[in-house]
Amino acid sequence: MCNVTRFSVSVEPALLDAFDRRTQRAGYKNRSQAIGDVLRAYLVDAQWEDGATPVVGTVTIVYDHHSRDVARRLTELQHGHDAAIACTTHVHLTHSDCLEVIVVRGTADEVQAFADQIISSPGVKHGRLVCTAATEGLHE
Ligand code: NI
Repeated sequence: MCNVTRFSVSVEPALLDAFDRRTQRAGYKNRSQAIGDVLRAYLVDAQWEDGATPVVGTVTIVYDHHSRDVARRLTELQHGHDAAIACTTHVHLTHSDCLEVIVVRGTADEVQAFADQIISSPGVKHGRLVCTAATEGLHE
């Protein structure tokens, strides 16, 4: 850290104790580092509130590849969407289940719409969108 601002914050002692216990368990070496990450997470989440903001997300799905046409439908969805698919990783989980992680870039609205369509597709058993964004201007 080359350029930092010191500030003081007032919170209930129990809240700070719980935060310190949790962040120490997670591996943070000091409170400043943990609070910096909390602030960045808050600001990244805020970027998703404005649908026009460029963001990036990962859509993780589990589907049964025996399920009729599901793989073809998922491929068509990926080819035909406004959001740009950066890459896809496929893992053959079990005899029937496949896991796919799709990295998607676009505006927050485009990425959310793509994730909704993929996750709600017939044959998709489980899906989650993880929302993130570039953090330029949110330096460590
Ligand atoms: Ni597979």
